Amino acid sequence: MKPNKIILNTTIIIFVNLLFFGVILSFSESSASIEKILIDEANIINFDPRVFHPVKKPLNLNPDEISLGERLFNDKRFSRDNTISCATCHDFKKGGADGKRTAIGIEGKVGTLNTPTVFNSSLNFTQFWDGRALTLESQVKGPVHNPVEMDSNWNKVLSKLRLDDNYVKLFNSLYPDGLTINNIVNAISVFERSLISMNSKFDQYLSGEQDALTIKQKKGMARFMMYGCHSCHQGVNIGGNMFQRLGVMEDYYNEKNTNQADLGRYNITKKDEDRFVFKVPGLRNVAVTPPYLHNGSIDKLEDVVSLMGRYQLGRNLPDEDIDSITEFLKSLTGEWKGKSL
Ligand code: HEC
Ligand code: HEC
Repeated sequence: MKPNKIILNTTIIIFVNLLFFGVILSFSESSASIEKILIDEANIINFDPRVFHPVKKPLNLNPDEISLGERLFNDKRFSRDNTISCATCHDFKKGGADGKRTAIGIEGKVGTLNTPTVFNSSLNFTQFWDGRALTLESQVKGPVHNPVEMDSNWNKVLSKLRLDDNYVKLFNSLYPDGLTINNIVNAISVFERSLISMNSKFDQYLSGEQDALTIKQKKGMARFMMYGCHSCHQGVNIGGNMFQRLGVMEDYYNEKNTNQADLGRYNITKKDEDRFVFKVPGLRNVAVTPPYLHNGSIDKLEDVVSLMGRYQLGRNLPDEDIDSITEFLKSLTGEWKGKSL
């Protein structure tokens, strides 16, 4: 390398360093100005529709099919011994989940995965933690046949429901071929598509109401983006549009016991690179659906935020940032039937 080139290179390095420390110095001088910069930055990224945008009320759903689907969703005859409905695990009073570490099905049988919310699941690109169902329609069969959930099958369900004149009449009025498995699945899926939680504080903010978020929530939103949480949790459901490994920057399962459910997408693809890979969960209503992660192993939202920082981003988040990000996540709680979830 020629001497004047070395000098040029060194000058560039020094200049970059000066710039860097200059920025750090001016940042540490005034925390109020960092806050302003962060919030301004958040405002700019925020309104990019590829990153976040408000949910829309689902249109073109037939209201009679929605109410038939709701009735089916709450019907315990879907389980072998008539004790469990979809709503037993996807409880609308618990944000569309069950508040349990892992699901509890027929005869108290304990499953291996945490129950995700059914709210906004129609916005996810696939269904289930490992993404094995591509559509809501193909998802419905899963719990009905699962031996630790409803432990039944379509023929049994169909023969029970056919004894119910109300259902026969309702199905005949809505579908040319009346009460069939396909039409049961259709009505349930239409109901699920109607389960969009509306009007969260974050949606109000995205729609231009600057004061819908508190200062702490705005700061949390800015930190969420500054650290890069939105590289995985993005889009209308603030997640639910890609698969990612739990433990990107550090092995999460180092010295922890694992079971088959922890293998995630590997169970479907059998590819080594899919070990511990899950659908990135949508974060809407996350504050009302503890416990967290695919195995429900974490009870507190603060603790997941800290864990995400460490294992997904390689950062030790300071308490203050964990706190403001958690507050921001609370602004993602929406309403259903006019009430906050
Ligand atoms: C025993 C509890 C239980 C019952 C009953 C149950 N579910 Fe679930 N549900 C779960 C669990 C656990 C998962 C996650 C399973 C997985 O990822 O493999 C899940 C996942 C889902 C998902 C995927 C959500 C997403 O974002 O990936 C939908 C949709 C859903 N259930 C709808 C239903 C419907 C419809 C019924 C009734 C036919 C039903 N569930 C019955 C526990 C239950
Ligand atoms: C590299 C991708 C990635 C990044 C970056 C990331 N996450 Fe996650 N996040 C995931 C995955 C994957 C899961 C599910 C893991 C599991 O269940 O085992 C998850 C789960 C969560 C959950 C639990 C949701 C639930 O319903 O159980 C929360 C809350 C969360 N992330 C918040 C954050 C925050 C806050 C940040 C930034 C500090 C962040 N995430 C950064 C991929 C990511």
